Amino acid sequence: MRKVLLGLGLGLVLGSASWGSAVTLTVDCGAGTGFDLCKAGVNRWAKQTGNSAKFFESPNNSGDHLGVIQQQLAAKSSDIDVYLLDIVWPGLLVNQLVDLKTKVPAAEVNRHFKGIVDANTVDGKLVSLPWFTDAGLLYYRTDLLKKYGYSAPPKTWAELMTMAQKVQAGERGANPQFAGYVWQGRNYEGLTCDALEWVSSFGGGTIVDASGKVTINNPKAAAALDMAAGWINTISPKGVTTYGEEEARGIFQSGNALFMRNWPYAWANGQSDDSKVKGKIAVAPLPAGPGGKPAAALGGWNMGVNLYSKNQDAAISLIRYMTGPAEQKIRAIEGSYNPTIQTLYRDPAILKANPFFGSLYSVFTSAVARPSGPTKAKYNQVSQAFANSVTDVLTGKAKGQAAVAKLSTDLARIKGRSW
Ligand code: GLC
Repeated sequence: MRKVLLGLGLGLVLGSASWGSAVTLTVDCGAGTGFDLCKAGVNRWAKQTGNSAKFFESPNNSGDHLGVIQQQLAAKSSDIDVYLLDIVWPGLLVNQLVDLKTKVPAAEVNRHFKGIVDANTVDGKLVSLPWFTDAGLLYYRTDLLKKYGYSAPPKTWAELMTMAQKVQAGERGANPQFAGYVWQGRNYEGLTCDALEWVSSFGGGTIVDASGKVTINNPKAAAALDMAAGWINTISPKGVTTYGEEEARGIFQSGNALFMRNWPYAWANGQSDDSKVKGKIAVAPLPAGPGGKPAAALGGWNMGVNLYSKNQDAAISLIRYMTGPAEQKIRAIEGSYNPTIQTLYRDPAILKANPFFGSLYSVFTSAVARPSGPTKAKYNQVSQAFANSVTDVLTGKAKGQAAVAKLSTDLARIKGRSW
């Protein structure tokens, strides 16, 4: 008995010491152009609170990033206290992250868009706090559209094809590398986003619907995939099937493409001083398919606390700071990361840096979710199966119709009796 009490006493002392005095948190700050901005934010928190931080730089590819987190959590590792979490992961990681429901005041949680909070909530548990939201956008060169006699960006995929062909043919004289359209064609989570946009813009649904029914086997979805296959080697380079976000951005930002599909972060980069296209770009909603309407995939990142972290109180303090209004404002201005706090869309400085946050507001609020909600812990398998089928169509191994039929069977198998 005495021993137990002593043990408990020691635990309490250590417990309070670990937050009462300074702690060092290890924070997953992602990768690529967002890493430094994340690090700067964490360091602002550290300075304000007298703590310190170390950083984990994750793989840039969302699927690989997930792999690392799952490995760490499977080993019950306490190494990384705070994780960055893709909006499609809460259902996969719900059991290994701290439930924030009782740890963060409801009023603070409710500042964020409800849909994003809902996506972060699984079985009543608040798995992570919204950090920024994402939606797929069409970037275009304003100077080149004008040069070739176009007064507005394309509203349909057919128009995009026509414009891209004309401008590409014209520009290739001086620049043999010039591409009409660059996007994310590599077989990974980014392809799931792009292809969901094509399918949804044709009216072909969302792979699996909100009730959990597999809906992908339909002619509109098949036609959307065939359309994208038709871009390769015409308006898109053959290598597009190896591109992620950063490869597409590299080409567009160095002046070698007319159109690009990307997320909002590409705006701040494209308008930076070292960008070859600074002042020559704009963004629009992605085009619509025949009889359909434009669709932007819903993306975004959130912050969660490792269930095995030894510094949970400090970690919660950090994620509350990082997802709060001051930090979201800095990130919006410096990196075009879309706030998840609704009121920030009325902030003049944010709108000045990112005029499209205002003009395309409805694109952000009506973005199409990947089916991670209904497919829960099996979402990753669903996404991989979808991206594999899309790859078969893009690389000419299958036609759209055969691919969606096969995918439908694969998904039924993955689903089994229920998701
Ligand atoms: C962006 C999105 C994320 C998505 C990823 C795919 O980071 O925010 O939700 O999964 O792109 O590459």
